[in-house]
Amino acid sequence: MIGRGLFLLFFIAILAGLISLAMFETGAEAQPSGADDPLRPQRHFKVERPAQLTPAEALTIYENIAADMGRGYAASADPAAERYRTWRRYNTAPYNSATHGNRYVNNYANEVAAEPYARLEDGVSMPEGSILAKDSFTVTADTAVYAGALFMMEKLAKGTSPETADWRYYMIMPDGSFFGDSRGDNAQAVNFCHDCHEAVEDTDYLFHVPEGLRVQFFRN
Ligand code: HEC
Repeated sequence: MIGRGLFLLFFIAILAGLISLAMFETGAEAQPSGADDPLRPQRHFKVERPAQLTPAEALTIYENIAADMGRGYAASADPAAERYRTWRRYNTAPYNSATHGNRYVNNYANEVAAEPYARLEDGVSMPEGSILAKDSFTVTADTAVYAGALFMMEKLAKGTSPETADWRYYMIMPDGSFFGDSRGDNAQAVNFCHDCHEAVEDTDYLFHVPEGLRVQFFRN
């Protein structure tokens, strides 16, 4: 256990300065690969079929690293980053978005957002104070596991940020450093967030968890 913790802390530390938007947008090309890659880990979490993890495999890996990931994000001292792992998780298992290479993600909603997030299809609009958190990790083709960024959306008071429909977007790196905050430092670095989320204006700029992987909270 201690060895695994140190392993993760080591890679979280060296990756912190290296993970970039380019990786977020073109995950596949940005993955480390090859024996001479300086990011190549010394130890791996082995998985049966690395190219295509089953939901159960992805969940097992996540359960092994989630606490360490949470500690890394919590170093930001952002209250939501410190607490998101106590919120409801809306996906049954981490899932790999085709547009994000090997990046696996999870969706969490805070207490304020909990029920409206479950009812997005009913045309709800998220109340002020809603926070959605999406953590992420990467599994490379040679089965190395890396913590990824924490993606956050917070619904602000009406009229606070008309250009983003009152959503605040921010992104926290695995070591807890802020990559950018639409209401704080380096706001321009996260402009691309709303540019993409604008595509789903009808569901208050939220994409939701892919169908089939959704936990059906508040539906009976
Ligand atoms: C290229 C499009 C795109 C960009 C850019 C993008 N997102 Fe998303 N986002 C998605 C999609 C698709 C989902 C749902 C599926 C998933 O999680 O992969 C999502 C889901 C989310 C969620 C979960 C809430 C929900 O249901 O929508 C959060 C939080 C989030 N994104 C934050 C961010 C932040 C912060 C940024 C910028 C740093 C960002 N996103 C940039 C496409 C994008």
